[in-house]
Amino acid sequence: MKVLFVASESAPYAKTGGLADVIGALPKALKEKGCDARVMLPYYKRIKEKNIAEYQGYAYVKIADRMEYVGVFHSNFEGVDFYFIDSDRYFNRDGLYGYGDDGERFAFFDFAVLEAIKVIGFFPDVIHCNDWQTGLIPYVLKTNYHYYPEFERIKTVYSIHNIQYQGNFPLDMMRILYMPYSNSLEFDNCINFMKTGILESNIVTTVSETYKNEVLTDEFGYHLNFILGLRYFDFYGIVNGIDVKKYDPATDPNIYQNYSIKNVVSGKKANKKALLDEFGLNHEDVPLFGLVSRLVEQKGIELLMPIIEDVIYYSNAKFILMGSGDQIYEDFFKTMEAKHPTRFKCYIGYSDAVAQKIYAGCDIFLMPSKFEPCGLGQMIAMRYGTLPLVRETGGLKDTVQPYNEFTGEGTGFSFGGFRSVDCKDVMYLAINTYNEKKDAWAKLVKQAMAKDYSWSASADKYLELYKKITL
Ligand code: GLC
Repeated sequence: MKVLFVASESAPYAKTGGLADVIGALPKALKEKGCDARVMLPYYKRIKEKNIAEYQGYAYVKIADRMEYVGVFHSNFEGVDFYFIDSDRYFNRDGLYGYGDDGERFAFFDFAVLEAIKVIGFFPDVIHCNDWQTGLIPYVLKTNYHYYPEFERIKTVYSIHNIQYQGNFPLDMMRILYMPYSNSLEFDNCINFMKTGILESNIVTTVSETYKNEVLTDEFGYHLNFILGLRYFDFYGIVNGIDVKKYDPATDPNIYQNYSIKNVVSGKKANKKALLDEFGLNHEDVPLFGLVSRLVEQKGIELLMPIIEDVIYYSNAKFILMGSGDQIYEDFFKTMEAKHPTRFKCYIGYSDAVAQKIYAGCDIFLMPSKFEPCGLGQMIAMRYGTLPLVRETGGLKDTVQPYNEFTGEGTGFSFGGFRSVDCKDVMYLAINTYNEKKDAWAKLVKQAMAKDYSWSASADKYLELYKKITL
């Protein structure tokens, strides 16, 4: 089985969010199962600058009245082949996204990917597309390449990592695409890349079973629920894993002291002490909440805003939160830090190393998301013996087993409604359990660490789907 993953980001080369972690890990897991999985990405400036890739050849694609140069470069990371699409015009920029011509940039990318396949001579059985940036590929493949025998047999899988970002652009973009009009390109008087991917691929997937069911509804579907409904019988939810080698408290070089399930009590204690020190907080034995997140509406920070001060007044909990994003949330963090300097600290920005220290050093990891297709933070937290406190949505619901006070079962804490009071109640439950039921807490920590978060089971499910469509 030969599979070419196409995405707009991948660890370790270019990362803004969870998609990069998936593309950095799933192909590796598939390779371990004998599948020839490779990856194709834009050759962003930050990758190019590293000078790690080798030139493979070039091609041209027609876009916006021009023949555009497509350079193809290759590199290998931990056994996986990565190919990069080079274009000075479209990708040699500081950021990944957020430019006025993003629609044109990724339309170019989608055209270029198919030409690059010829350059490298790797004709996969399946092209596995991810998120809106790759949504045109299944359509371009069908309309412009069907007369090539090597391309004719290629099947496509389209994975949705977040349905909120759909790639909507004015319809007059049709003029630069040089493609026949199709109803699958257009949505609400716009070009909608995601709609195209959903309708033109052989199989559609998303990153958890619960999110799959959610996006079929008006509440979560961002208007594409109806389109997804048309693909109901080809639509699957497969939960993400995490890279269990990279995220391993026994070997993680970023944390203060390594530990495993056997010495987790002393290991976490040492990490917590050092983390509190680093952030200038006293080390008493009180529950420590952590958060590592992009600060956008999706992440449910607004639920915390009306209740954090209450929790600070009426409990002994402390907070260390990290993230960057919307001004309103950053300001909230900074205000709390200024008002409660002995209880609340924040790190505005993102650092891998500090993030790992927070995962290892905290007791409770906050993730009250409004919606969460899968979420990786909660799994990393559990692997480090930090109990996630999540809202029951998407992958959070599928991966965190809530604490049952009567049986002692569970791997974290959760609440249902998107309401601050519900969040506050479960924060107090976590605080009281930490303060008063040390044995129950220790058991939860071990249960969380003992779960399997590897990619193996999910990689098997993808392989099954690939087989199903290529038979
Ligand atoms: C997006 C989603 C996140 C998911 C990730 C990887 O970033 O918001 O929930 O874990 O994609 O699929």
